[in-house]
Amino acid sequence: MRSELKGLTVSFDSQLANYRQRVNATLEQNLSVDEPENLHLAMRHAALNGGKRLRPLLAYATAETLGVEPERVDAAACAVEMVHAYSLVHDDLPAMDDDDLRRGQPTTHIAFGEAQAILAGDALQTRAFEVLANDPHNSAEAKLKMIQELAMAAGAMGMCGGQALDLSFEQQQPNQTELEAMFRGKTGRMITAPVVMAAISATESRASATDISAIASLRKFADCAGLAFQIHDDVLDIEAETSTLGKPQGSDVEQNKATWPALFGLQAAKTRSQQLYGEALTALEPFGTAAEPLRWLASYIIERDH
Ligand code: IPE
Ligand code: IPE
Ligand code: MG
Ligand code: MG
Ligand code: MG
Repeated sequence: MRSELKGLTVSFDSQLANYRQRVNATLEQNLSVDEPENLHLAMRHAALNGGKRLRPLLAYATAETLGVEPERVDAAACAVEMVHAYSLVHDDLPAMDDDDLRRGQPTTHIAFGEAQAILAGDALQTRAFEVLANDPHNSAEAKLKMIQELAMAAGAMGMCGGQALDLSFEQQQPNQTELEAMFRGKTGRMITAPVVMAAISATESRASATDISAIASLRKFADCAGLAFQIHDDVLDIEAETSTLGKPQGSDVEQNKATWPALFGLQAAKTRSQQLYGEALTALEPFGTAAEPLRWLASYIIERDH
Protein backbone atom coordinates (compact mmCIF):
# COMPACT_ATOMS: atom_id res chain seq x y z
CA MET A 1 0.00 0.00 0.00
CA ARG A 2 1.54 3.28 -1.03
CA SER A 3 0.88 6.94 -0.40
CA GLU A 4 2.31 10.34 -1.27
CA LEU A 5 3.59 12.48 1.59
CA LYS A 6 5.63 15.59 1.00
CA GLY A 7 6.69 14.27 -2.41
CA LEU A 8 8.00 11.01 -1.00
CA THR A 9 6.42 7.66 -1.72
CA VAL A 10 6.03 5.85 1.57
CA SER A 11 4.36 2.62 2.47
CA PHE A 12 1.78 2.89 5.25
CA ASP A 13 2.42 -0.59 6.64
CA SER A 14 6.08 0.34 7.01
CA GLN A 15 4.92 3.43 8.91
CA LEU A 16 2.73 1.53 11.39
CA ALA A 17 5.49 0.87 13.92
CA ASN A 18 6.57 4.49 13.63
CA TYR A 19 3.06 5.83 14.31
CA ARG A 20 2.45 3.37 17.14
CA GLN A 21 5.71 4.45 18.71
CA ARG A 22 4.69 8.05 18.25
CA VAL A 23 1.37 7.69 20.07
CA ASN A 24 2.96 5.52 22.76
CA ALA A 25 5.51 8.26 23.42
CA THR A 26 2.78 10.93 23.64
CA LEU A 27 0.73 8.73 25.96
CA GLU A 28 3.77 8.06 28.13
CA GLN A 29 4.52 11.77 28.31
CA ASN A 30 0.95 12.57 29.37
CA LEU A 31 0.73 9.76 31.91
CA SER A 32 3.79 10.75 33.88
CA VAL A 33 2.06 13.28 36.09
CA ASP A 34 2.36 13.31 39.87
CA GLU A 35 -1.13 11.96 40.67
CA PRO A 36 -1.83 9.59 43.60
CA GLU A 37 0.16 6.42 43.05
CA ASN A 38 -2.63 3.83 42.79
CA LEU A 39 -4.58 5.95 40.37
CA HIS A 40 -1.43 6.69 38.37
CA LEU A 41 -0.57 2.99 38.06
CA ALA A 42 -4.14 2.06 37.12
CA MET A 43 -4.25 4.76 34.42
CA ARG A 44 -0.95 3.54 32.99
CA HIS A 45 -2.09 -0.08 33.12
CA ALA A 46 -5.21 0.85 31.15
CA ALA A 47 -3.51 2.95 28.49
CA LEU A 48 0.02 1.58 28.10
CA ASN A 49 -0.67 -2.17 28.10
CA GLY A 50 -0.59 -2.73 24.34
CA GLY A 51 -3.55 -2.36 22.04
CA LYS A 52 -3.59 -2.05 18.29
CA ARG A 53 -3.79 1.76 18.44
CA LEU A 54 -6.21 1.73 15.53
CA ARG A 55 -7.80 5.08 16.38
CA PRO A 56 -4.46 6.93 16.53
CA LEU A 57 -3.46 5.19 13.27
CA LEU A 58 -6.64 6.54 11.67
CA ALA A 59 -5.65 10.06 12.75
CA TYR A 60 -2.15 9.67 11.23
CA ALA A 61 -3.48 8.01 8.06
CA THR A 62 -5.99 10.84 7.56
CA ALA A 63 -3.20 13.34 8.13
CA GLU A 64 -1.12 11.60 5.44
CA THR A 65 -4.09 11.61 3.08
CA LEU A 66 -4.62 15.34 3.54
CA GLY A 67 -0.93 16.31 3.61
CA VAL A 68 -0.96 17.37 7.27
CA GLU A 69 2.21 17.13 9.38
CA PRO A 70 2.00 14.30 11.96
CA GLU A 71 2.80 16.78 14.77
CA ARG A 72 -0.57 18.38 14.12
CA VAL A 73 -2.42 15.17 15.06
CA ASP A 74 -0.26 13.92 17.94
CA ALA A 75 -2.60 15.41 20.55
CA ALA A 76 -5.73 14.13 18.80
CA ALA A 77 -4.23 10.62 18.47
CA CYS A 78 -3.29 10.56 22.15
CA ALA A 79 -6.61 12.00 23.36
CA VAL A 80 -8.72 9.58 21.34
CA GLU A 81 -6.69 6.63 22.61
CA MET A 82 -7.09 7.84 26.21
CA VAL A 83 -10.86 8.02 25.84
CA HIS A 84 -10.84 4.61 24.14
CA ALA A 85 -8.74 3.11 26.96
CA TYR A 86 -11.17 4.56 29.52
CA SER A 87 -14.11 3.07 27.60
CA LEU A 88 -12.47 -0.37 27.74
CA VAL A 89 -11.84 -0.12 31.51
CA HIS A 90 -15.50 0.66 32.13
CA ASP A 91 -16.74 -1.84 29.50
CA ASP A 92 -14.92 -4.64 31.35
CA LEU A 93 -16.37 -3.81 34.81
CA PRO A 94 -18.61 -6.40 36.49
CA ALA A 95 -21.60 -4.06 36.05
CA MET A 96 -21.00 -4.07 32.30
CA ASP A 97 -19.37 -6.98 30.41
CA ASP A 98 -17.66 -8.47 33.47
CA ASP A 99 -14.44 -9.47 31.68
CA ASP A 100 -11.15 -10.27 33.40
CA LEU A 101 -8.72 -10.21 30.45
CA ARG A 102 -7.84 -7.28 28.17
CA ARG A 103 -4.89 -6.94 25.79
CA GLY A 104 -3.57 -10.20 27.23
CA GLN A 105 -3.42 -8.79 30.79
CA PRO A 106 -5.77 -8.71 33.78
CA THR A 107 -8.39 -6.00 33.28
CA THR A 108 -7.85 -2.82 35.29
CA HIS A 109 -10.46 -3.71 37.93
CA ILE A 110 -8.87 -7.16 38.40
CA ALA A 111 -5.42 -5.61 38.82
CA PHE A 112 -6.39 -2.54 40.90
CA GLY A 113 -9.92 -3.10 42.22
CA GLU A 114 -13.20 -1.72 40.93
CA ALA A 115 -13.06 1.67 42.62
CA GLN A 116 -9.58 2.52 41.26
CA ALA A 117 -10.61 1.23 37.83
CA ILE A 118 -13.66 3.51 37.75
CA LEU A 119 -11.51 6.47 38.80
CA ALA A 120 -8.75 5.59 36.31
CA GLY A 121 -11.36 5.63 33.53
CA ASP A 122 -12.72 8.98 34.71
CA ALA A 123 -9.23 10.47 34.95
CA LEU A 124 -8.13 9.17 31.54
CA GLN A 125 -11.15 10.82 30.01
CA THR A 126 -10.51 14.23 31.57
CA ARG A 127 -6.75 13.98 30.83
CA ALA A 128 -7.67 13.47 27.16
CA PHE A 129 -9.38 16.86 27.01
CA GLU A 130 -6.48 18.46 28.87
CA VAL A 131 -4.08 17.09 26.22
CA LEU A 132 -6.21 18.58 23.45
CA ALA A 133 -6.53 21.94 25.19
CA ASN A 134 -2.71 22.09 25.67
CA ASP A 135 -1.86 21.09 22.08
CA PRO A 136 0.80 23.56 20.84
CA HIS A 137 0.43 22.63 17.14
CA ASN A 138 -3.12 23.79 16.39
CA SER A 139 -4.98 27.09 16.62
CA ALA A 140 -7.46 27.78 19.43
CA GLU A 141 -10.29 27.53 16.90
CA ALA A 142 -9.16 24.14 15.58
CA LYS A 143 -8.64 22.82 19.12
CA LEU A 144 -12.15 23.90 20.10
CA LYS A 145 -13.59 22.01 17.12
CA MET A 146 -11.53 18.92 17.99
CA ILE A 147 -12.71 19.06 21.60
CA GLN A 148 -16.33 19.31 20.39
CA GLU A 149 -15.84 16.34 18.05
CA LEU A 150 -14.30 14.11 20.73
CA ALA A 151 -16.89 15.15 23.35
CA MET A 152 -19.75 14.28 21.01
CA ALA A 153 -18.14 10.98 19.98
CA ALA A 154 -17.56 9.89 23.57
CA GLY A 155 -20.78 11.12 25.13
CA ALA A 156 -24.45 10.30 25.39
CA MET A 157 -24.99 10.61 21.63
CA GLY A 158 -21.88 8.51 20.94
CA MET A 159 -19.98 5.88 22.92
CA CYS A 160 -21.86 6.19 26.23
CA GLY A 161 -25.22 6.20 24.47
CA GLY A 162 -24.24 3.13 22.45
CA GLN A 163 -23.05 1.34 25.57
CA ALA A 164 -26.41 2.10 27.24
CA LEU A 165 -28.24 0.56 24.27
CA ASP A 166 -25.84 -2.41 24.29
CA LEU A 167 -26.90 -3.16 27.87
CA SER A 168 -30.61 -2.77 27.17
CA PHE A 169 -30.33 -5.13 24.16
CA GLU A 170 -29.30 -7.95 26.53
CA GLN A 171 -33.01 -8.04 27.48
CA GLN A 172 -34.73 -6.96 24.30
CA GLN A 173 -33.58 -8.07 20.80
CA PRO A 174 -33.04 -5.26 18.30
CA ASN A 175 -33.68 -5.40 14.55
CA GLN A 176 -30.74 -4.79 12.18
CA THR A 177 -31.29 -1.03 11.99
CA GLU A 178 -31.42 -0.76 15.79
CA LEU A 179 -28.38 -3.00 16.24
CA GLU A 180 -26.32 -0.97 13.76
CA ALA A 181 -27.41 2.31 15.38
CA MET A 182 -26.10 0.90 18.67
CA PHE A 183 -22.79 -0.11 16.96
CA ARG A 184 -22.44 3.38 15.46
CA GLY A 185 -22.79 4.79 18.95
CA LYS A 186 -20.65 2.48 21.05
CA THR A 187 -17.86 1.97 18.51
CA GLY A 188 -18.41 3.90 15.28
CA ARG A 189 -18.27 7.43 16.65
CA MET A 190 -14.89 6.80 18.32
CA ILE A 191 -13.61 5.60 14.90
CA THR A 192 -15.02 8.67 13.13
CA ALA A 193 -13.56 11.08 15.71
CA PRO A 194 -9.82 10.68 14.90
CA VAL A 195 -10.52 10.96 11.17
CA VAL A 196 -12.58 14.12 11.58
CA MET A 197 -10.12 15.60 14.10
CA ALA A 198 -7.25 15.19 11.61
CA ALA A 199 -9.44 16.77 8.94
CA ILE A 200 -10.14 19.72 11.26
CA SER A 201 -6.40 20.31 11.52
CA ALA A 202 -6.18 20.26 7.72
CA THR A 203 -8.95 22.83 7.22
CA GLU A 204 -6.88 25.63 8.75
CA SER A 205 -4.92 26.17 5.57
CA ARG A 206 -7.45 25.22 2.92
CA ALA A 207 -10.49 26.59 1.05
CA SER A 208 -13.64 25.89 3.03
CA ALA A 209 -15.85 24.58 0.19
CA THR A 210 -13.40 21.75 -0.58
CA ASP A 211 -13.04 21.04 3.10
CA ILE A 212 -16.74 20.60 3.76
CA SER A 213 -17.13 17.98 1.04
CA ALA A 214 -13.82 16.32 2.01
CA ILE A 215 -14.94 16.07 5.63
CA ALA A 216 -18.31 14.63 4.54
CA SER A 217 -16.51 11.94 2.46
CA LEU A 218 -14.17 11.14 5.34
CA ARG A 219 -17.11 10.90 7.76
CA LYS A 220 -18.85 8.48 5.39
CA PHE A 221 -15.64 6.41 5.11
CA ALA A 222 -15.21 6.27 8.89
CA ASP A 223 -18.88 5.53 9.52
CA CYS A 224 -18.69 2.43 7.26
CA ALA A 225 -15.30 1.40 8.64
CA GLY A 226 -16.51 1.79 12.23
CA LEU A 227 -19.58 -0.35 11.67
CA ALA A 228 -17.47 -3.00 9.91
CA PHE A 229 -15.02 -2.84 12.83
CA GLN A 230 -17.68 -3.77 15.40
CA ILE A 231 -19.18 -6.51 13.21
CA HIS A 232 -15.70 -8.02 12.84
CA ASP A 233 -15.18 -7.69 16.62
CA ASP A 234 -18.37 -9.74 17.09
CA VAL A 235 -17.12 -12.34 14.58
CA LEU A 236 -13.78 -12.60 16.39
CA ASP A 237 -15.60 -13.23 19.69
CA ILE A 238 -16.84 -16.46 18.04
CA GLU A 239 -13.93 -17.49 15.82
CA ALA A 240 -10.69 -16.34 17.47
CA GLU A 241 -8.72 -17.93 20.29
CA THR A 242 -8.47 -16.14 23.65
CA SER A 243 -4.67 -16.21 23.38
CA THR A 244 -4.77 -14.36 20.04
CA LEU A 245 -7.60 -12.04 21.00
CA GLY A 246 -6.08 -10.99 24.32
CA LYS A 247 -9.64 -10.89 25.71
CA PRO A 248 -11.98 -13.77 26.61
CA GLN A 249 -13.35 -15.54 23.53
CA GLY A 250 -17.07 -16.28 23.89
CA SER A 251 -17.74 -13.39 26.26
CA ASP A 252 -20.64 -12.13 24.11
CA VAL A 253 -22.42 -15.50 24.14
CA GLU A 254 -21.92 -15.79 27.89
CA GLN A 255 -23.38 -12.32 28.49
CA ASN A 256 -26.26 -12.84 26.03
CA LYS A 257 -25.06 -9.88 23.98
CA ALA A 258 -26.91 -8.66 20.92
CA THR A 259 -24.23 -9.20 18.25
CA TRP A 260 -24.45 -9.22 14.46
CA PRO A 261 -23.65 -12.96 14.12
CA ALA A 262 -25.89 -13.95 17.05
CA LEU A 263 -28.90 -12.17 15.57
CA PHE A 264 -28.43 -12.61 11.82
CA GLY A 265 -25.84 -15.40 11.34
CA LEU A 266 -22.06 -15.66 11.10
CA GLN A 267 -21.88 -15.81 7.30
CA ALA A 268 -24.28 -12.87 6.92
CA ALA A 269 -22.12 -10.90 9.38
CA LYS A 270 -19.04 -11.48 7.21
CA THR A 271 -20.95 -10.50 4.07
CA ARG A 272 -22.17 -7.32 5.78
CA SER A 273 -18.65 -6.29 6.86
CA GLN A 274 -17.39 -6.87 3.28
CA GLN A 275 -20.23 -4.73 1.95
CA LEU A 276 -19.37 -1.92 4.39
CA TYR A 277 -15.69 -2.20 3.41
CA GLY A 278 -16.76 -1.64 -0.22
CA GLU A 279 -18.79 1.42 0.80
CA ALA A 280 -15.83 2.75 2.81
CA LEU A 281 -13.59 2.48 -0.28
CA THR A 282 -16.18 4.22 -2.46
CA ALA A 283 -16.24 7.15 -0.02
CA LEU A 284 -12.45 7.53 -0.49
CA GLU A 285 -12.62 7.84 -4.30
CA PRO A 286 -12.41 11.67 -4.34
CA PHE A 287 -8.98 11.46 -2.68
CA GLY A 288 -7.38 9.20 -5.32
CA THR A 289 -4.07 7.57 -4.41
CA ALA A 290 -3.53 9.97 -1.49
CA ALA A 291 -6.02 7.88 0.52
CA GLU A 292 -3.97 4.65 0.32
CA PRO A 293 -3.19 4.76 4.09
CA LEU A 294 -6.92 4.81 4.86
CA ARG A 295 -7.58 2.00 2.36
CA TRP A 296 -4.89 -0.04 4.07
CA LEU A 297 -6.54 0.50 7.47
CA ALA A 298 -10.00 -0.35 6.10
CA SER A 299 -8.76 -3.74 4.92
CA TYR A 300 -6.95 -4.26 8.23
CA ILE A 301 -10.22 -3.58 10.08
CA ILE A 302 -12.04 -6.47 8.41
CA GLU A 303 -9.09 -8.88 8.16
CA ARG A 304 -7.38 -8.52 11.55
CA ASP A 305 -7.18 -11.57 13.82
CA HIS A 306 -7.55 -9.67 17.11
C1 IPE B 1 -12.14 -2.98 21.31
O1 IPE B 1 -11.41 -2.10 20.54
C2 IPE B 1 -13.44 -2.37 21.68
C3 IPE B 1 -14.37 -2.22 20.58
C4 IPE B 1 -14.82 -1.06 20.23
C5 IPE B 1 -14.85 -3.38 19.89
P1 IPE B 1 -10.02 -2.54 19.89
O2 IPE B 1 -10.18 -3.86 19.21
O3 IPE B 1 -9.52 -1.42 19.05
O4 IPE B 1 -9.11 -2.74 21.17
P2 IPE B 1 -7.55 -2.47 21.38
O5 IPE B 1 -7.42 -1.01 21.59
O6 IPE B 1 -6.80 -2.94 20.19
O7 IPE B 1 -7.22 -3.25 22.62
C1 IPE C 1 -17.16 -2.30 23.37
O1 IPE C 1 -17.79 -3.28 22.62
C2 IPE C 1 -17.33 -0.97 22.90
C3 IPE C 1 -16.76 0.01 23.84
C4 IPE C 1 -17.27 1.17 23.93
C5 IPE C 1 -15.59 -0.27 24.70
P1 IPE C 1 -17.40 -4.74 23.14
O2 IPE C 1 -17.88 -4.94 24.53
O3 IPE C 1 -17.80 -5.71 22.10
O4 IPE C 1 -15.81 -4.62 23.15
P2 IPE C 1 -14.86 -5.80 23.62
O5 IPE C 1 -15.18 -6.99 22.78
O6 IPE C 1 -15.12 -6.02 25.08
O7 IPE C 1 -13.48 -5.27 23.34
MG1 MG D 1 -19.37 -4.19 25.75
MG1 MG E 1 -16.78 -5.88 26.14
MG1 MG F 1 -16.65 -7.41 21.55
